[in-house]
Amino acid sequence: MHNGTTITQFIIEEQRHIAGATGDFTSLLNDIVTACKVISNAVNKGALIGVMGSAQSENIQGETQKELDVITNEIFIKSNEWAGHLAAMASEEMEEIYPIPAQYPRGKYLLVFDPLDGSSNVDVNISVGTIFSILRCPGDGTNATAESFLQPGTEQVCAGYALYGSSTMLVLTTGHGVNGFTLDRDIGEFVLTHPKMTIPEDTKEFAINASNQRFWEAPVQRYVEECLAGKTGPRGKDFNMRWVASMVAEVHRILTRGGIFMYPKDTKDPAKAGKLRLMYEANPMSFIVEQAGGASWTGRERIMELKPEGLHQRVPVLLGSKNEVETVVSYHKQA
Ligand code: AHG
Ligand code: MN
Ligand code: MN
Ligand code: MN
Repeated sequence: MHNGTTITQFIIEEQRHIAGATGDFTSLLNDIVTACKVISNAVNKGALIGVMGSAQSENIQGETQKELDVITNEIFIKSNEWAGHLAAMASEEMEEIYPIPAQYPRGKYLLVFDPLDGSSNVDVNISVGTIFSILRCPGDGTNATAESFLQPGTEQVCAGYALYGSSTMLVLTTGHGVNGFTLDRDIGEFVLTHPKMTIPEDTKEFAINASNQRFWEAPVQRYVEECLAGKTGPRGKDFNMRWVASMVAEVHRILTRGGIFMYPKDTKDPAKAGKLRLMYEANPMSFIVEQAGGASWTGRERIMELKPEGLHQRVPVLLGSKNEVETVVSYHKQA
């Protein structure tokens, strides 16, 4: 018997304080929560339901899609297209936006998502996740175009992620702090377990894919070198390192015990500004991290202030414990 706060109850209570809230948003969020439960179930069943392979397709990011990339994208669409809250959706796995089909009513919100984050980890049974962000659609929602989505991250109404780890969690912000919920499978509900999550300002833990070291710019080279130098180096402390290769898992660790996560600009592929996608990964995670008291920069700009130039735009990402992010940013300013 549980008597904790469910995510639905939490959202309804939070929305009561917002003037003009119609219940649309609460209802949209409910559909997103349902999608995450369905995905959690599919990820959890794994090979038992035969979903662990690669699909015979490549996405717009140039990545070979996993079967689960395709399935989870479909789950998100089906759960969210029918209710009348959305004008359109956009996803890492779809080249074009997905306007709500004519058979359904259209609403005032836009939904942006990475249906399966860390999908290279799925067949090795390491945590994966789903990232989402909600924007308001300019105009009345009937004519959403790709352009309608190109709003800076500061315009996000809500951002969240689901983490399919040793337990399934959903972490959420609507701009009033960050709260974490754990899926209780016995009752089928997300229950508030991590109220008011905050990121410690200081840390001794960094996360970066070190195999790219030769491609990094000088400020990141310097920062990591100084971390590795430990107690007797310029930072005067010993650092620990982690790299899960699922951004959701890394951000969750940082929300739990602090740390800095970096996928910096590199020269590996000069056509790309970074690896992570601004709309599906960088902006929603930046909103969450900042709401938890952390910071999120490209190295030179605050991520949420960037004016997106394209749906699938990539950006460098340095996020986490405030003082540590500020240190790397200061190295960029000096360079
Ligand atoms: P996705 O699975 O949605 O394509 O995202 C993978 C991303 C991110 O989750 C992770 O931090 C990063 O790619 C891992 O990159 P490497 O393969 O370079 O380690
Ligand atoms: Mn991908
Ligand atoms: Mn991703
Ligand atoms: Mn993905």
